[in-house]
Amino acid sequence: MKIRLGTRLCIIINSASIAKQVHKDHDTIFANRDITATASAAFWGGTGLVLSPHGEHWRMLRKICTRELLNGCRLDAQYDHRRREVRTMVNQIYTKINTSIDIGDQIFQTKYNLMADMLWGGMPEREVEMKLLLDQFRKDLHKALPLLIVPNISDLFPILAKFDIQGLARRANKLGMSFGKVFNFIIDQRLRRRDEEEKKDFLQVLIHLKDYGDEKTPFTKTTIIALLLDLLVAGTKSSSAVVEWAMTELLMKPKLMKKAQEEIDEVVGMNSVLEEGHCSKLNYINAIVKETLRLHPIAPILIPKYTSKSCTIGGYNVPKGTKIIVNAWAIQRDSTYWNNPLEFQPERFLGPDCEWGYNGENQNYIPFGSGRRVCVGISLAERMVPYLLASLLHSFNWKLQEGTQLDFSETFGLELTKTIPLIAIPSPRLSDQILYS
Ligand code: HEM
Repeated sequence: MKIRLGTRLCIIINSASIAKQVHKDHDTIFANRDITATASAAFWGGTGLVLSPHGEHWRMLRKICTRELLNGCRLDAQYDHRRREVRTMVNQIYTKINTSIDIGDQIFQTKYNLMADMLWGGMPEREVEMKLLLDQFRKDLHKALPLLIVPNISDLFPILAKFDIQGLARRANKLGMSFGKVFNFIIDQRLRRRDEEEKKDFLQVLIHLKDYGDEKTPFTKTTIIALLLDLLVAGTKSSSAVVEWAMTELLMKPKLMKKAQEEIDEVVGMNSVLEEGHCSKLNYINAIVKETLRLHPIAPILIPKYTSKSCTIGGYNVPKGTKIIVNAWAIQRDSTYWNNPLEFQPERFLGPDCEWGYNGENQNYIPFGSGRRVCVGISLAERMVPYLLASLLHSFNWKLQEGTQLDFSETFGLELTKTIPLIAIPSPRLSDQILYS
């Protein structure tokens, strides 16, 4: 579909075969992000991994993230951190038993602490100033994400961008500065303490690169801020949204929830703590996660791109500079590829012939995108999302508040979130109180 957004030509892709041409056949031409004025202002000029144009700088950031943070070995070595955060979550929920819990918010907090831990060694409770800054960061993030999808005249008519008629760039810039304050504090604190204790975490790797990096691809303090910001944002909200949607579907279909709990009980039992290692045996839980990502893709239009040169797609000439939106939401609900596409049926992801991976090989199923800009955090999400969901289902039974109805309305933007947060009431199901400690 071709539309004009002000002076910009925009192509919306709703079919898997055309998506394949974008993600596979002409991958390099479509590997640049189409960055809006608001995103640029909030995310440090788009100098992080998510928004950087395809090129040396992006390649360097991607390599650092994969090599130092998100590959299988690093993640295996960090299991203790994930375990600690999940156990803390279970314990916190246990203290609120039989009361109403905002599930998305609870998972967000868990994932947020985990990311802080993975990126710079977390935030010790005694660091009051850091805690205050991070609380402010959370609030600002909730303000920034909706701002990114407000239609902006500056994007439609770039010649007007310098006037910022709606004041969106100004507001986003303020939020960007506030984000920067947090990371500046964390980096400066680390630099001050460098001699006292030599840490070996991701932040330390980044500081080392800043000091001794390659001249060809300079790595500055701004690069560190932009990268940490991207990873914290991309790694937090996405996982909490998937678990929230999965729990909404399961509360709607108690039989499926029971089946999932029976599977967990068979693999883990009622007298043990669920570990991440159990999750590879939880086929039904993994199918629920896959089906949730099909029906409720967290990034419904992935992240918009633009063409770096003219090319032919689906028999049409697409000029250089065209904005490209791949509509994963539509593709994953298309009855050409999916039976009963609007039904939540985890069973479609079970069975020996089921070959649905997350890396975007099959263009009918692209919740993490595809091609060279595919999500860099798949391995972490693959470990964390089933672990979080299974822990909620193993440790607790869940019901809705008296008189409330499940709501499936979606707020459609760069992120597909539930319009009304899911509130549910837990009750304990495990045999011994010690399993909640
Ligand atoms: C369920 C969880 C997640 C989902 C559904 C998800 C989805 C996505 C999608 C759709 C994209 C854009 C791909 C494209 O444009 O083709 C993306 C990019 C990205 N994601 Fe994720 N993501 C998740 C978790 C994570 C995690 C845990 C991290 C990091 C810790 C992360 C970091 C990133 C980054 C840095 C990019 C930009 C990659 C680049 O441009 O090279 N994501 N993600």
